[in-house]
Amino acid sequence: MHHADRLATVACAVLALAVTTSSAVLLNPADLPAHKQYDYIVVGAGPGGSTVANRLSEDPHINVLLIEAGPSDEGVLAIEVPFLASQLQPNTPYDWNYTTTPQQALNGRVVSYARGHVLGGSSSINLMVWTRSSRDDFNSYAAVAGDPGWSWDSIEPYFSKVEHIVPPTDGHNTAGEIAPHIHSHHGYVNITLPNAKFPSDSHAIATTQDLPDEFPFNLDSNSGNPIGLGWTQGTYGNGRRSSAASSYINPFLYRANLDVLVNTTATKLVQTGHANGRPAFRAVEVKQSSTSRNYTLHAATEIILSAGAINTPKLLMLSGIGPGPQLHSLGIAPIVDNSHIGQHLVDHPRVSNQFGVSRPEYDITDTIGRNTTLFDALLQEWQDTQPHRGFFANGGSNQVGWFRIPQDDPIWDTVKDPSTGPTSPHYEFLFRPGFASTLGTPAPPGNFLTVNTVVVAPSSSGSVTLASADPFDPPLIDPNFLNTTFDIYALRTAIRAAARFLSAPTWEGFITGQAGPFADVDLSSDDAVDTWARAQVSTIWHPVGTARMGACGDETSVVDPDLRVKGVEGVRVVDASVFPTIPAAHPQAVVYVFAERAADLIKHGRPAC
Ligand SMILES: *[C@@H]1O[C@H](CO)[C@@H](O)[C@H](O)[C@H]1NC(C)=O
Ligand SMILES: *[C@@H]1O[C@H](CO)[C@@H](O)[C@H](O)[C@H]1NC(C)=O
Ligand SMILES: *[C@@H]1O[C@H](CO)[C@@H](O)[C@H](O)[C@H]1NC(C)=O
Ligand SMILES: *[C@@H]1O[C@H](CO)[C@@H](O)[C@H](O)[C@H]1NC(C)=O
Ligand SMILES: *[C@@H]1O[C@H](CO)[C@@H](O)[C@H](O)[C@H]1NC(C)=O
Ligand SMILES: *[C@@H]1O[C@H](CO)[C@@H](O)[C@H](O)[C@H]1NC(C)=O
Repeated sequence: MHHADRLATVACAVLALAVTTSSAVLLNPADLPAHKQYDYIVVGAGPGGSTVANRLSEDPHINVLLIEAGPSDEGVLAIEVPFLASQLQPNTPYDWNYTTTPQQALNGRVVSYARGHVLGGSSSINLMVWTRSSRDDFNSYAAVAGDPGWSWDSIEPYFSKVEHIVPPTDGHNTAGEIAPHIHSHHGYVNITLPNAKFPSDSHAIATTQDLPDEFPFNLDSNSGNPIGLGWTQGTYGNGRRSSAASSYINPFLYRANLDVLVNTTATKLVQTGHANGRPAFRAVEVKQSSTSRNYTLHAATEIILSAGAINTPKLLMLSGIGPGPQLHSLGIAPIVDNSHIGQHLVDHPRVSNQFGVSRPEYDITDTIGRNTTLFDALLQEWQDTQPHRGFFANGGSNQVGWFRIPQDDPIWDTVKDPSTGPTSPHYEFLFRPGFASTLGTPAPPGNFLTVNTVVVAPSSSGSVTLASADPFDPPLIDPNFLNTTFDIYALRTAIRAAARFLSAPTWEGFITGQAGPFADVDLSSDDAVDTWARAQVSTIWHPVGTARMGACGDETSVVDPDLRVKGVEGVRVVDASVFPTIPAAHPQAVVYVFAERAADLIKHGRPAC
């Protein structure tokens, strides 16, 4: 049996156990305590919602209800074991199973679009890369919002509330792999360096000495300046994933004023009246399935939408808050007309480029994937060790690199730099010790190393729109990948750079050349590289921007600098929807600190615009 199938069996068996033993997580709205008055209802239990629900419920006098459409994460083996992360999507019980609309610049291809459908949201199913983004990204958010509170210097202390740096479980000395003084031990999310070494590690690091001008070493990409290549920090600790659920929610279920309701989908916000001349929406309608009965749940103070950059705009639109004419045409009565809701969707396009390696033991993931005995032995090692050790206790990528297209590149003669400034990269490398394909192609015979190339400052943008007024219909997701000259140019640049990286002297005898589906791509030809890119691009699952933050008077934005939905009373958005531009990073870290600050803003109650 393929290991994914065996894993699903294990996961289901353990999940069934968790459902019967976990009593603090409610499985049905009918089980909500009668007569309890919630102050806040938080919709969506990813890094945004879990963080806010935790911080608001620190005050025992504040009642908080957190609602998650997916199941509890507890006891799900593939969520706990870092190496099994890639098994969690697509099309599992922990995934919304979304796809994009046909992408024009990708030959009309439809791209699979995983989003977390489980307590912890996408932080329960992601590949756990921990990157804070750049000083310039945060400073641009402060500038756009007209609120210096979003600047790098103001936000940096919030990382201390999130991060708990833990040592790797193989006990290796981490000197030279991280700048410890910029990190904290006081937060809730465990962050670690790799727990197991890959044979390619020393070569990837040596490349920064072979080719230091193009690929400099960066001791710690979380300093505000990520440019360069260094060791990956990941959201796991002691060999176990640290998600928004396992860090911010599950250890706090003892709080009598925090209720968590899973397996329950919010279907719309309900207008409850008017306040300050604006419609107020202090209730949310929920259902367990398209055929089950509905419940309307009230919040005395606020509804906080943290359903993510796809489902947050969907829910606003289902509630009559969005582009008026579009809503009207679907039979939804527009209550608040804002044509920007669901627009400005931006995501990072990714291509996996495969190279051959000279020895089977250099290819970790395929060696394990092809050998059931080895797979079982490594899982057993994970289970038998505490803290967990071995390859299964490790994330999938031990190095990450962030690079800029040089200032003297001819592209800048015709294109304006879409990045937010000199500390923001244009493209990323993410290494995988084995075969990976953006199309989900299974590994062919042979041994591989894959460099994922990602455009992290794309200038293309698309939209999320409703397919119908039925809340159980998936929305139309159009990231509009490679819509601009810059994006295809940056991707071409990144793919060629990946090949140059692996041609450094240190890889002699290790890398055998381009391989697998990438084998015959002629890197000297723009057309050949672009053809490869258009045929291969998929997402790295970083959608943002569909309810973007703007200054008080900015009518092209959706939320104000305190993340309140403009033109509405009682609703805030705390997730990646609010980012005015896409962070040049894996955005979970940015969502956590936005949520930490949002919790402070909610507690302090600054006056609305
Ligand atoms: C909750 O959802 C999960 C996954 O969809 C499902 O397996 C489980 O049966 C559900 N639990 C209940 C009590 O409905
Ligand atoms: C996604 O697909 C899986 C496998 O078919 C299914 O179990 C799960 O319920 C689906 N998720 C949703 C949100 O429908
Ligand atoms: C983080 O690690 C500590 C021990 O270092 C452990 O007690 C805690 O449960 C871990 N947290 C999570 C969320 O895994
Ligand atoms: C919710 O349930 C009520 C009856 O309890 C019904 O009148 C209403 O139409 C339902 N709403 C939806 C969207 O199904
Ligand atoms: C599979 O792995 C086991 C355990 O490491 C090893 O003994 C065996 O030789 C491997 N089989 C093959 C075909 O490589
Ligand atoms: C770019 O996107 C716009 C808006 O969706 C579309 O009209 C145009 O055809 C797209 N062009 C390409 C090359 O994808």
